[in-house]
Amino acid sequence: MICVCSIIGYKGKQSAAPILVDSLKRMEYRGYDSVGVATFKDGDILVKKGTGKVAEVSKSLNISAMSGMIGIGHTRWATHGGVTDSNAHPHSACKNNIAVVHNGIIENYKELKEELIKTGHVFSSETDSEVIAHLLEVHADRGIKGSLTATCKRLKGTYAFVAVFQDGTIAGARYEEPLIIGVANDGYFISSDVLGFLQYTDKAIFLDNYDIVLVDGSKMEIFNFDGNPVAHPITQVAWELGEVDKGKYAHYTLKEINDQRVTVANAARQDEAMMEKFCKVLSDAKSVYITGSGTSYHSALIMKHMLARYAKIRAETVMSSEAQDGLVGLDEGSALVAFSQSGETADVLESVKIAKKQGAKILGIVNVTTSSLARASDAFLSVNCGPEIGVAATKSFTGQLALVYNIVSSLAPDTLAAGEKAEFVKAVEKVIASSQLAIEKMASKMEQVNDIYLLGRSTHYPIALEGALKLKELAYVHAEGVAAGELKHGPLALMEKNTLVILLNPRDATYNDSLSNAHEIKARGASVIGISDAGSEVYDHWVEIPHMTEEAFYPIVEVIPLQMLAYYLALAKNADPDYPRNLAKSVTVK
Ligand code: AGP
Repeated sequence: MICVCSIIGYKGKQSAAPILVDSLKRMEYRGYDSVGVATFKDGDILVKKGTGKVAEVSKSLNISAMSGMIGIGHTRWATHGGVTDSNAHPHSACKNNIAVVHNGIIENYKELKEELIKTGHVFSSETDSEVIAHLLEVHADRGIKGSLTATCKRLKGTYAFVAVFQDGTIAGARYEEPLIIGVANDGYFISSDVLGFLQYTDKAIFLDNYDIVLVDGSKMEIFNFDGNPVAHPITQVAWELGEVDKGKYAHYTLKEINDQRVTVANAARQDEAMMEKFCKVLSDAKSVYITGSGTSYHSALIMKHMLARYAKIRAETVMSSEAQDGLVGLDEGSALVAFSQSGETADVLESVKIAKKQGAKILGIVNVTTSSLARASDAFLSVNCGPEIGVAATKSFTGQLALVYNIVSSLAPDTLAAGEKAEFVKAVEKVIASSQLAIEKMASKMEQVNDIYLLGRSTHYPIALEGALKLKELAYVHAEGVAAGELKHGPLALMEKNTLVILLNPRDATYNDSLSNAHEIKARGASVIGISDAGSEVYDHWVEIPHMTEEAFYPIVEVIPLQMLAYYLALAKNADPDYPRNLAKSVTVK
């Protein structure tokens, strides 16, 4: 069983449980199948855990009332096995003198479990994580520090874990999963995400692989798996990261769609020196590869078009999950541009590792500037759109596109003028204001729709893929992005009465060919929704977008009605757009 989870530990002068519950709520977007907390008081460790969202579980188990000023907490997103109370974290060992929360995969957990069972250990969950608690117990005679180093040396896979011990010590260890210490005036936090403690302190220490942190009494020490001391600087994290309030909006997703009025402008504004460094590596590279997962991969596809068209730079795009085969033959002259909102996606970090091994330079495009990707990059730029809590990437996607426009106009100012960016900023604002009500109305009539095809050519094809992804993840509708020119090579066979097609058809070089596709689709009895700056009698429904004098800017504008459609269709189908089933915001396991 593996999980993408959030973990938090606190040791300080305040009551731990309310702080842990508050932190878990802020990090809930990372995973939300089950919740648990363990607190320490007077030599006892008390564990409460159950399935459901943080607010529900904490209310039904009265978690906030748990006493003690030391504790650990967890929200879980399981990808294998059942979502059950016993599989929820924290996990204890046989003597109930240790509790552990874990994020990642312990790949050798089966053999460890068998070995532990043979020596009399009794397991109470099906998780891989529970072996950590039992191993700590096995090595308890070496002292807490010794038990941590011995345990870490037995684990294979990827992990960040936090444990509370019977003397009130809390400790954490990391290998290939994020773990950050929050340094407050009156205590310490150990968390998988700065959002876990940012409301209490903006001072953070980012742990590296093979680091262990131990908070014993009021002192904190960091050492490696060999027990040798490690020193890391304290970083001041931007407070704005902590602003995760929905404000007047019903959902984070709706807020984040609306935030795009401002965030696209933020992404288009960059520090000149950082931009210069980034572009120098890119233009000096003999070969350029671009990677990302999900939505971030769609940005990679658009960047490839833009680099070729405006900067005459040829680039290869590689889905991060396919990097093993896709990133072969790189060398010291290569650059890998890696897109990741979170900067923590395991597949993206793996592709960075593969590229680095071959000597390539890494150019990160992130939203979280303290993330593993930012730290692994030779140069990075931030989309600077603030925390994105909705599982569906919305403002981070348009932020990535605005940043791509900025990069390309820095590389090739004569072909794509930087001054023109005011045009897409205004157009984004206009499309948000003008299409919201109409799309809400349209979605309310689409409740019964189960299949949608999205068609586009050139840069509109990645937007068709992105629109399909949004509809799948938010509205649970089967949706397929199709390159419009491929219609007659197969997908046309699916066009019949009741088929619904969304055509991305702005008035650029692709317009006439795509309009012909609309006629072909209509002739087979299917319905067509046209997203365009020009109306046509062939559309059953026309979603109007502003006309752009620079055609490269259409993608950033035309994706917004698709985000809204996915959001309102989710509502029409009674789905929770902020927490789509089975998904998590940051996929930190492969
Ligand atoms: C997008 O709506 C998805 N939630 C998902 O595809 C996401 O874009 C992907 O997991 C990559 O995340 P990242 O940008 O944080 O690396």
